[in-house]
Amino acid sequence: MVPRCPSTRDDVWMDATWTPAGWRGLTTLQQPEWPDEAVLDEAVTELRQLPPLVFAGEARSLQSSLAKAARGEAFVLQAGDCAEAFGDFQADSIRDKLKVILQMAVVLTYAAGLPVVKVGRIAGQFAKPRSSPNESQQDVELPSFRGHAVNDSPFDSTSRTADPRRMIRAYQQSAATLNLIRAFTKGGFADLNQIHVWNQEFVAGSTQGQRYEAIARQIERALRFMAACGVDLGTDSNLHEVDFYTSHEALLLGYEEALTRRDSLTGDWYDCSAHMLWVGERTRQVDGGHIDFLSGVKNPVASKVGPTATPGELLALCEKLDPGNEPGRLTFISRMGSGLVEEALPPLIRSVKEAGRNVLWICDPMHGNTFSTPAGLKTRRFDDILAEIKGFFAACQQEGVPPGGVHLELTQEDVTECLGGAEEILDRHLETRYQALCDPRLNARQSLDLAFQLGEMLQG
Ligand code: PEP
Ligand code: CO
Repeated sequence: MVPRCPSTRDDVWMDATWTPAGWRGLTTLQQPEWPDEAVLDEAVTELRQLPPLVFAGEARSLQSSLAKAARGEAFVLQAGDCAEAFGDFQADSIRDKLKVILQMAVVLTYAAGLPVVKVGRIAGQFAKPRSSPNESQQDVELPSFRGHAVNDSPFDSTSRTADPRRMIRAYQQSAATLNLIRAFTKGGFADLNQIHVWNQEFVAGSTQGQRYEAIARQIERALRFMAACGVDLGTDSNLHEVDFYTSHEALLLGYEEALTRRDSLTGDWYDCSAHMLWVGERTRQVDGGHIDFLSGVKNPVASKVGPTATPGELLALCEKLDPGNEPGRLTFISRMGSGLVEEALPPLIRSVKEAGRNVLWICDPMHGNTFSTPAGLKTRRFDDILAEIKGFFAACQQEGVPPGGVHLELTQEDVTECLGGAEEILDRHLETRYQALCDPRLNARQSLDLAFQLGEMLQG
């Protein structure tokens, strides 16, 4: 048993021996081989002195929204790139990604009549786990690409050498991205009166774009109706601002540790690199460094749950990550693959529920459905993505828990990376606009298409 002590809030129990550096004494998978310890130490020391990116109070308000989702009173939309890129860092791309997520949220809110909790895979999603530490091409072996916080993707030795200074650049890009997100979401752009502006040009002409326009017109009419009835729409911030949260995989623990700070209000530790952190399918070992790290920070945390997960593992994760069984603290992100979800997921949900755990279940329909084409491009089928979400809904309904949300990889760009969707991207189209740095993403039209189908599922 680990010694526990009450935190300053008496409902919450903390491990008294936990420190942000405790992971260093444990097996911690998927860490890069940094060539020079001194440069690494210097970078981490610099990060320690930089300001927090998010604040503890924001993480707490996300947790209370996630608690609502766990009770079926809200729906989570967690979405963004598989890997953010240093080369894709313009105001336009951040704004347009926000547009896609806002559009999807409108469609879901309108269909389900539920608030949508918006969480980006953004402003920090720069590190990637890899199935192999090295990659070989024509008898040359180099370290695998691990995300822009670590190294670069071209297959040459300079690019692939891990450089700790990249973590500082990842921090700076995250800070500027978050600054813009805050401006867009609180400064008028996310105002419901802007609902038409969120329809990007290349989306507006499509069937989904037109369907979106129809909803936007109905919402406008409803707002005019309420104003005509004398409701003062000008003063209600819900109509003019949006709460948008950030999240990423807590993979590079040197980076996460350096941004972990004590909250002056409660004395609790928060990882101030993002509002929500998750641990990936490859690093969720209950006695490993990643889980130890997440166990001590008070942000809402999540773990991916793939087809090899056992009820025992999930209960051990609940005990370690959420000893106080706090609503909204722990999310399980199911990523089974469309073929396995209906068989593999129900027993897991059942064991967690029977143990009386307040866990939020959401569905990542992307990572269990990835395959490579004969030409060597990683892709996913829109129909598999949809089928996995349907299987997830069925599993949740069968076990009597709310299907709490989705976790998607998407982009604002008009890319051709995932197959299918209403516009029918075929195998031979993939090469035309394939830009993914890591995993294939839904483009803006496919994302909207998915939101409409998801909205129908939510209506039951
Ligand atoms: C990811 O979310 O990009 C990822 C690598 O997922 P997983 O850990 O589920 O494989
Ligand atoms: Co991915």
